[in-house]
Amino acid sequence: MVAEAGIQATAPVYRPGLEGVPATQSAVCDIDGQQGILSYRGYRVEDLAAQSTFLETTYLLIWGELPDAEQLAAFEQEVQMHRRVSFRIRDMMKSFPSQGHPMDALQASAASLGLFYSRRALDNPEYIYGAVVRLIAKIPTMVAAFQLIRKGQDPIQPRDDLAYASNFLYMLTEQEPDPLAARIFDACLILHAEHSLNASTFSARVTASTLTDPYAVVASAVGTLAGPLHGGANEDVLEMLEEIGSEDQVEPWLDRAIAEKRKIMGFGHREYKVKDPRAVILQKLAEQLFDSFGHDPLYDLARKLEAAAAERLGPKGIYPNVDFYSGLVYRKLGIPEDLFTPIFAIARTAGWLAHWKEQLGANRIFRPTQIYTGYPSRELTPIEDR
Ligand code: SDX
Repeated sequence: MVAEAGIQATAPVYRPGLEGVPATQSAVCDIDGQQGILSYRGYRVEDLAAQSTFLETTYLLIWGELPDAEQLAAFEQEVQMHRRVSFRIRDMMKSFPSQGHPMDALQASAASLGLFYSRRALDNPEYIYGAVVRLIAKIPTMVAAFQLIRKGQDPIQPRDDLAYASNFLYMLTEQEPDPLAARIFDACLILHAEHSLNASTFSARVTASTLTDPYAVVASAVGTLAGPLHGGANEDVLEMLEEIGSEDQVEPWLDRAIAEKRKIMGFGHREYKVKDPRAVILQKLAEQLFDSFGHDPLYDLARKLEAAAAERLGPKGIYPNVDFYSGLVYRKLGIPEDLFTPIFAIARTAGWLAHWKEQLGANRIFRPTQIYTGYPSRELTPIEDR
């Protein structure tokens, strides 16, 4: 443990994956993994999902306080004014292979924003505000644009008269969404907005600590979120449920998977040793959608899998995480499976930017050490003698 900066009291201990090792101090989000409690700037995520909006929660995460009506209206209007993306970026996206994964398209297009706005006035609050507005506003437009481009269509321009969640669903599906669907989608964005020092947020803070621009910070985080052990799991959960096929196959499938030491997608968490509180809320949102728009038999299969896994993996503290039910919500909203993780990225851009701003407020470049396990010093043998 380092008693003071640079003075080692005892030998440092290596923890794989930095498990349990504080890598920063942060006031953005708190997780009680034993009780299953998640709060953003002190507000419980259940209350925010039920009473707030994604943009209001974004403001809270980034500036630390809930906005008043005037501040929120100004932020919403700024975001609405910056939704459009340069034709140059749209043309660049048209050159992407249509079979490419939307997360790769998002990472490339997010990084390209730095070509247009790279001025790094990181000590200027107006620059910070402008970068936050641009990224929050343009990430959804780019996700929706690639969806239409890969279908051979021209992207749909954002609509100024639609709220954030409705506008995204409109740009994606070419139809104005049902108000309940838009409300539930907005709640999903709140639930995915922030989660302390997860892998992609850690990437964001490490990248931010070099004082690069915020577009590179978000591009770095998008690349990290894409992995199947992190944000990519939501896409794999549906494939897993479809592989199981029917409720009578759940237990034999699960027993085989555990015997083969496979990771059950949508289960387990480094912090939570109980059911992820976001999974609890997402399950209720899924049920609301099914009540209004028709049932999904995969949901019954998911419930059966959750019960079977509780018996077998619950004693190890392995329960559903945020990714287990989110895909069933998005599927009922008509969203293609390979867009589930880009939607996670739309939401988590709020958390990444909150951590970017916090890192800048008390910055020291990340540069941990290592335990060397390679060769001792040795002479170089000329190639003719090897
Ligand atoms: C997200 O960190 C965050 O906050 C992430 C996130 C966020 O909001 O940013 O919450 C979003 O990434 C959710 C997680 C999505 N990923 C998955 O659903 C993939 C499946 N889950 C696992 O890969 C795993 O649970 C992790 C990656 C989520 C957590 O991994 P850990 O903490 O490194 O745990 P581990 O792999 O070291 O496993 C510890 C033990 C092992 O058993 P033993 O070898 O000790 O006997 O638990 C077992 C693992 O085999 N285990 C699982 C399991 N997860 C852990 N066994 C079966 N299925 C699983 N899903």
